[in-house]
Amino acid sequence: MSDIAKLEIDGKVYELPVFIGSENEKAIDISKLRDLTGCITLDSGYKNTGATKSSITFLDGEEGILHYRGYKIEELAEKATFLEVSYLLIYGELPTIHELKDFEANIKKHTLVHEDMKRFFEAYPAQAHPMGVLSSMISSLSTFYPESLDPNRSEAKKNLTVCRLIAKLPTLAAWAYKNSMRHPLMYPRNEYNYCQNFLYMMFAMPTEDYKLDPVVVDALNKLLILHADHEQNCSTSTVRIVGSSQANLYSTVSAGISALWGPLHGGANQEVIEMLEAIHEDGGNVDKWVTKAKDKNDPFRLMGFGHRVYKNFDPRAKIIKKTCDDVLEKLGVQDPLLEIAKKLEKVALEDEYFRSRNLYPNVDFYSGIIYKAIGIPTEMFTVMFALGRLPGWIAQWKEMTEHKEPIGRPRQIYVGKRVREYVDIGKR
Ligand code: ACO
Repeated sequence: MSDIAKLEIDGKVYELPVFIGSENEKAIDISKLRDLTGCITLDSGYKNTGATKSSITFLDGEEGILHYRGYKIEELAEKATFLEVSYLLIYGELPTIHELKDFEANIKKHTLVHEDMKRFFEAYPAQAHPMGVLSSMISSLSTFYPESLDPNRSEAKKNLTVCRLIAKLPTLAAWAYKNSMRHPLMYPRNEYNYCQNFLYMMFAMPTEDYKLDPVVVDALNKLLILHADHEQNCSTSTVRIVGSSQANLYSTVSAGISALWGPLHGGANQEVIEMLEAIHEDGGNVDKWVTKAKDKNDPFRLMGFGHRVYKNFDPRAKIIKKTCDDVLEKLGVQDPLLEIAKKLEKVALEDEYFRSRNLYPNVDFYSGIIYKAIGIPTEMFTVMFALGRLPGWIAQWKEMTEHKEPIGRPRQIYVGKRVREYVDIGKR
């Protein structure tokens, strides 16, 4: 492809540079478009807009490819630990043994949260959604660590904030759940690895011994790796745009958590189980619900199907489907919802409506099923997604600040009323 694109407006031809990425992705650089032509581009949902040049994640939606820093997701999910992948995403290279040990030790140093923060939990009602609690708690961390308010102060300070975030998110997430049950909060135990520690804080009780199941630990490790980054999705774009105003990292990540909460993004895994429950309560007639999903007059969609960028298959869904089968078999789980899920998957994969629109089960379809099988309550599913996505948000924020990207500020085309005169209230 030529490195110049030509654009003709009102008979005048403008030349725009074409930028080609390392995997041969092509972009027309329109950064001077408004200066040259007086026009801006219009791209609702940013479906065709490249917001940045990034070296973190490569994703090919047509081919179903996902790489972190050049490493295939399949290999990372098979061989690495979540903290190893976090290091890779944040610092750019796989860690040596020493680097990983240091990283893990730094994180273990910060797993406790300030005792005063425990009092915040008491103020939340038991039915508070844990995502609301988590985003508030993460934002509140900035009030305990004022040195984080200037995110660019020093590399050491930045790394300290990064370690604190990675260390404290599992503690706060597990405590949000324990609090909703009005159970005693379990303190982190640093002899455990990252995934073990989270499961311990979620499920252990002070009155009895807690036994970790290696199948569950392994499944959690894989799930977190698969969710660790996904280039410029809704929550990551939110993180980059909030961070671009030089807000501190805690508030920036808190904004990412809020963006993730929505049912069209990270909230989909919760919606999947709620949809399966609704189908079950309705008598388990899968065909009826598939018909509803296809009806344009019915707002219902099959949750866990379709993806903005994967239009062939979601490579994460392929890996997680196998983990899902393993976990269900090893734990011997019998659940009518799982039968409905399998039927739904089959019908949708064979149905012309879904096939012609390339709507396949996405990662959230299977992650919800695994989380249910290992005892994670439905309302915590999106929190699990946030745990996994944290290193990606941090890596994207770090890259954005290191590239000194300008504050994010899109334009618009105004379609409202033209200027008119104010009418006194009595005359309206
Ligand atoms: N069920 C039924 N129909 C669907 C579904 C679905 N789950 N998803 C898309 N469609 C249909 C649309 O109605 C549209 O049909 P049309 O061409 O006849 O108008 C067509 O498929 C294209 O859909 P869009 O909404 O234009 O696709 P978009 O890329 O904007 O949306 C999204 C992607 C939001 C993921 C969508 O597929 C969806 O809502 N899925 C269900 C929610 C979900 O699972 N979200 C998780 C995404 S993964 C993640 O965030 C990790």
